[in-house]
Amino acid sequence: MRIAVTGTGYVGLVSGVCLAHVGHEVICVDNVPERVAAVNEGAPPFHEPGLSELLSSGLHEGRLRASTNLAAAVAASEVILIAVGTPSADGHIDLGAVEAAAREVGQSLAGCAEYKVVAVKSTVVPGTTDTLVRGILEQAAGKPAGAFGLCMNPEFLREGEAVRDFLNPDRIVIGQWDANSGAQLARIYESFNCPKIFTGLRNAELTKYASNALLATLISFSNEMAGLCEATPGTDIAEVLAALVLDRRWSPVVDGARVRPEILTYLRAGCGFGGSCLPKDVAALRGFARERGVPTRLLEAVLEVNALRPAAIVAQIEEALGNLQGSRIAILGVSFKPGTDDLRESPALTILRLLADAGVKVRAYDPVVKTFAGAAGPTLCASLEEALDGADAAVVVTPWPEIVAADWRVLAPRMRNRVIVDARNGLDAAALPDGIRYLGIGRGRRPWRGDELGKSGTQGN
Ligand code: UGA
Repeated sequence: MRIAVTGTGYVGLVSGVCLAHVGHEVICVDNVPERVAAVNEGAPPFHEPGLSELLSSGLHEGRLRASTNLAAAVAASEVILIAVGTPSADGHIDLGAVEAAAREVGQSLAGCAEYKVVAVKSTVVPGTTDTLVRGILEQAAGKPAGAFGLCMNPEFLREGEAVRDFLNPDRIVIGQWDANSGAQLARIYESFNCPKIFTGLRNAELTKYASNALLATLISFSNEMAGLCEATPGTDIAEVLAALVLDRRWSPVVDGARVRPEILTYLRAGCGFGGSCLPKDVAALRGFARERGVPTRLLEAVLEVNALRPAAIVAQIEEALGNLQGSRIAILGVSFKPGTDDLRESPALTILRLLADAGVKVRAYDPVVKTFAGAAGPTLCASLEEALDGADAAVVVTPWPEIVAADWRVLAPRMRNRVIVDARNGLDAAALPDGIRYLGIGRGRRPWRGDELGKSGTQGN
């Protein structure tokens, strides 16, 4: 099919490139000429594994191109995907770019006799597509929805895995204005073998928010339990959660073997969730509920628990060192999660700021992030070794494989004090050499007689 995608950010470009990969003819539109030029040269404007290869082949095979001309792209397409950004402002989403895109698409629809489907891919709160977007489209096009198709088609792409997630979706949710809209949009996903859910526009919008809110809730639940453990000698959140998830309702036994759904990785204590989606989406959902007078105590708590995590990590470092003033600390990993260079809402940034405020000399290292690009932060070191030289403590903030698997036999001697604070509980503490003081998250901080009673571990599956 012929598809126009407006917005060449994560969602738009990944969608456009992947749809071209499965055989469609795609025009990616952006109003920033430099971005369009970069895409046409095969250089994605952000780092995403596998994207540049698929972009190059799409360009090479002539199924993909980028343009600044949205009107022409709409005229040439059967399906138009609106995938522009919806940044957060004071806990509400800014719909300016969605409105502008809808207006331009609508104006172009006015001159087209052919039936076309407009689908919102941007994350928008329930009701946005059938009120705001529909209103703008109808007014600009001079015809009612139905004369053109209208859908809401949320994306469920994780940064760092976006191409894989797009090409192997768990499900495709198609919110539809009418059955014809959904049926036409579904044609772009004909080759995808996964459940396709046809539902109302508002259900599709809410499904996206509810999905991210649940992930955030699992993380904050784990972190709240971790805080409880920290105040309770003899407890360890890692052991508690490891036993908890063996409930067969979480991890069923199939053909005699324990299946561990990926969702369980969100039941893990750490320094809190970050990124461009979870914090923004939970806050937007809360704002949406507030406007309707609906209490959202759970969402409030999810955000509040998350906001407390960086300070809890800093308190743990302070407890380990006695005094932070003048100490030297190595922060290992600064991106919001491994596999991306994205710093948005990264807990590392808050930890860095709190440490700087406390008079700490911080040195940071990240395998991929090489500059804070405008955000405040210390100089980033070129290597783990450089960050650790003379440090009083190393704090593992982002569990990059390189950091988790680091050889502390070699690294520890470079430190002034051999203290490791593992803010993600990602290290194998038992494998660390002697002489290192290891502090994980969510462990009773004071000793307890029972600590010596037996060895922890699990037998069987
Ligand atoms: C998230 C969702 O996972 C996607 O399904 C969704 O499509 C996307 O937001 C979006 O709305 O666009 P992403 O922000 O890339 O994707 O990040 P995740 O991999 O879910 O990580 C979010 C936070 O959870 C990070 O801070 C990460 O450290 C934490 N996390 C992630 C865990 O604690 N455990 C995990 O197993 C994975």
